[in-house]
Amino acid sequence: MKITVVGAGAVGATCADNIARKELASELVLLDIKEGLAEGKAQDMMQTATLLGFDTKITGSTNDYAKTAGSSVVVITSGIPRKPGMTREDLIGTNAGIVKTVSENILKHSPDAIIIVISNPMDTMTYLALQATGLPKNRIIGMGGTLDSSRFKYQLSQHLECSPSDLNAVVIGGHGDTTMIPLIRHATWNSAPVTDFISAEKQDAIVKATMVGGATLTALIGTSAWYAPGQPEQHWWKLL
Ligand code: 2OP
Repeated sequence: MKITVVGAGAVGATCADNIARKELASELVLLDIKEGLAEGKAQDMMQTATLLGFDTKITGSTNDYAKTAGSSVVVITSGIPRKPGMTREDLIGTNAGIVKTVSENILKHSPDAIIIVISNPMDTMTYLALQATGLPKNRIIGMGGTLDSSRFKYQLSQHLECSPSDLNAVVIGGHGDTTMIPLIRHATWNSAPVTDFISAEKQDAIVKATMVGGATLTALIGTSAWYAPGQPEQHWWKLL
């Protein structure tokens, strides 16, 4: 299977790196508009192949979409990240044009691709990609729910002093500081409701910390996070 990741910044490179490490693709194309960036990062990653033991063939491309032809999955990470104090919506003016152009170019060369959108504001960009491509909605996936649910499990695990992997918890709603809905009443720890172990006050704090999870990291790092946002979620690939 061939996968393309558009955008070789921190999120795109993290995503490509992990796709290769997990051998989710036999062929992986990393594409960026900045001359040489994707080629350089692709080569750097390929030089980890024998160290990590993967066989995915990674190549880079400076804005040549012909190289992405025949991809089954395309991950869009293009656009500018937010800085401390910005909302995701502040990025819309710049990122909307980028995501629209990227989705149209992708579709020309990979008409059967499933598109996963990471660019912010993620909900709006996912809808924009849907409109720009005219694809059925089950072929355009925004990754906010996956990311926010993972952050929710992290917040719960910190309080419960357990592994996040022992938790089941879901965030629905938008990928926004005020629009996320962490479903704490439905969250479980090895099948037991987490609410049995957490006071009402602490539950509120966990929900709030989850909702501003991205902004908290942006304030600490000085730019948007990338390890969790760039993670190819394992269940996506089972859809293929
Ligand atoms: C985040 O929440 C980038 O929106 C992304 O970290």
